[in-house]
Amino acid sequence: MNSPLPYLDPALPVAERVADLLGRMTLPEKVGQMLQLNAKDGVREHVEEMHVGSILHVSPERVLEAAELVRQTRLRIPLLVAEDCIHGHSFWEGATIFPTQLGMAATWDPALIEKAARATAVEVAATGIHWTFSPVLCITRDLRWGRVSETFGEDPFLIGEFASAMVRGYQGDGLTDPTAILACAKHFAGYSETQGGRDASEADLSQRKLRSWFLPPFERVAREGCRTFMLGYQSIDGVPITVNDWLLNDVLRGEWDYTGTLITDWDNVGRMVWEQHVYADHTQAAAAAVRAGNDMVMTTPQFFDGAQRAVAEGLLDEADIDAAVARILTLKFELGLFENPRHPEPARQAEVIGIDAHAAVNLDVARRSLVLLRNDGVLPLAGGLTADEAGRALAPSDGRPRTVAVIGPNADDPHAQLGDWAGASGQTDWLPEGHPRTMIQTVLDGFRDQAPADWTITHATGAEILSVGADPEGAFFPDGQPRPDVVIPAEPDERLIAEAVAAAEAADYVVAVVGDRIELIGEGRSTATLELVGGQVALLDALAATGKPMVVVLISSKPLVLPDSALGASALIYAANPGMRGGRAVAELALGLIEPTGRLPVSFARHVGQQPTYYNQVRGQHGTRYADLTQSPAFAFGEGLSYTTVEYDELEVLTPVLESHETVRARVTVRNTGSRPVLETVQLYVSDTVTSVTWAEKELKGYRQVSLRPGESTVLSLELPVADCTLVDAKGRRTVEPGAFELLVGPSSRDDSLLRAGFTVKGV
Ligand code: NOJ
Repeated sequence: MNSPLPYLDPALPVAERVADLLGRMTLPEKVGQMLQLNAKDGVREHVEEMHVGSILHVSPERVLEAAELVRQTRLRIPLLVAEDCIHGHSFWEGATIFPTQLGMAATWDPALIEKAARATAVEVAATGIHWTFSPVLCITRDLRWGRVSETFGEDPFLIGEFASAMVRGYQGDGLTDPTAILACAKHFAGYSETQGGRDASEADLSQRKLRSWFLPPFERVAREGCRTFMLGYQSIDGVPITVNDWLLNDVLRGEWDYTGTLITDWDNVGRMVWEQHVYADHTQAAAAAVRAGNDMVMTTPQFFDGAQRAVAEGLLDEADIDAAVARILTLKFELGLFENPRHPEPARQAEVIGIDAHAAVNLDVARRSLVLLRNDGVLPLAGGLTADEAGRALAPSDGRPRTVAVIGPNADDPHAQLGDWAGASGQTDWLPEGHPRTMIQTVLDGFRDQAPADWTITHATGAEILSVGADPEGAFFPDGQPRPDVVIPAEPDERLIAEAVAAAEAADYVVAVVGDRIELIGEGRSTATLELVGGQVALLDALAATGKPMVVVLISSKPLVLPDSALGASALIYAANPGMRGGRAVAELALGLIEPTGRLPVSFARHVGQQPTYYNQVRGQHGTRYADLTQSPAFAFGEGLSYTTVEYDELEVLTPVLESHETVRARVTVRNTGSRPVLETVQLYVSDTVTSVTWAEKELKGYRQVSLRPGESTVLSLELPVADCTLVDAKGRRTVEPGAFELLVGPSSRDDSLLRAGFTVKGV
């Protein structure tokens, strides 16, 4: 009997298998192994001619076709199959689609986020996909950016918490776990520091600023074992991220000892030629990208010839290619793909995709993601209801049936509810109608299903948001990618408004569901304005003028600038893109079947010109306002109301003087002074009184979520290692500077909501 080739022998150590396989590969096979190509236009050429190591955007049928093609190749190196499953298995019909990352972040609950990622991994792993391009660790700073919904918001500490929860959820018990998928921390690093909110613009970032806020979440997931990292699109200080030697080699591979796999973003290598113009051709760009330590090159087919030419011309050492290929092969061996390529398993899919257990987690995440921003007492409706066993609200104690007019363009729009990277959001073409409508509960569905059986639920659209037209600059970018359509805001429509007003006038309550749509969201789709687009403001104004109690529900990918008719409405709920079950969650909240618990992970501006409005800005500017407007945001990071009132009292630091290795211990009394239960998010910020360099006025360092019954109070113990009270000094070193600090504790980042108590860190 022939003994197997060493690389096919699972009994051998991975390093030996990698070395054996590398030794058998030709240069074209090695270069191909570094390529990830788009499967949208077919896979045969990718596999047979270019020997690709990975494919992405693979329709369910193509996964099988590609696997069969690989079986016919000389070395039968299994493919890594990748997809952006970023809030659920985005493009698998009938998969569970959760709230977007921004919605998940509003829960402030890493355990719940981990559950969502776990459910996603279980669904994804059954479909032959090994790698998700998630989570996103970009910091939202300019709300005009199109990709805010993909982020966890504006705070680096929260981003680190939630991203590591997601990585744990995806990677499960390790790569040998058949339900594990590879996580990918992206976009490394600073991509979101846009200019004017424009996508992929030059990021004006110093190394110190990167170390201060942008790198810490990445460092955390690197150290916690996130197996892959993806670069962003930006350049920093003139250097495209793809060749940023300092960031990739000195910091990531060097300081953090990261041994995982690094993938470029979409055509980054090509963009250095046709967009950033820093290399004359793909030969030079390929050589530079490999030398900088990129392992996998996403969707630059020209890399295949370019890298080979670079070796032939002496621009690139084959050993650099070997190092990258070795890292990719290591991943494949560790996943066990040579023994079990983890092909799609239809029987398993039937058991795990879109199942009730995942729908239940999804409903939990959606409920917890809703942020109540304003309430004059109208909510919960009819004083708050209780549910029967099926979850439907029972009639209020006065027995009087109510009429609720559920109005607005996003009241019954399944796509707006799912948001970007889901079904019909445009990145793939095999789900033109999106996910099955029956799996999605819009706000209108939610009221119809959850309100007491004898209530009347009426509906009117009230306004159009937009239509689209072709980009006058042409249908395609120079790399052949389609340009997004141009948005044409809709005019207010008097007929639609009149219908909506009539519905409002005949109702006891108006629920107005407004927001944005996919055409205003995503890559290359930043917005110059933040206002509600189209006829929505006119609609809200007209509804407000009826004098009916109005609950505004904002289903939008990012915080928007709201008109007075929304800011002054009886109630306002921010729902982000709340996923398949979001509409039910909104109805439950309005009816008082659940309590509002979400807190903003990102601030809301009053005016687009206030950008940026994030809370942890560096102190030292003249004054605190614009001549014509306050700088204070409409709603600040950390804010969110409950249906009860909560008081904070008696903050006391028990360790007023500490050494740098000690832990600050404090306590605070938190009291539920109202008549409904609460899940309160007690936030803990630190302010360093005098710093050797200008620094943020305060930074979130921790928080506790505590449940309190009506009238209940608790004395909460808080702990904070002094080692966390750091800043980054002028030389870029993260350090604790001895001296006076303040601990700030309360329900949001607003100064007037926080209690303060001092402590001192002793010098050496
Ligand atoms: C480009 C996006 O920037 C990135 O986030 C995504 O993962 C890739 N395309 C693949 O779809």
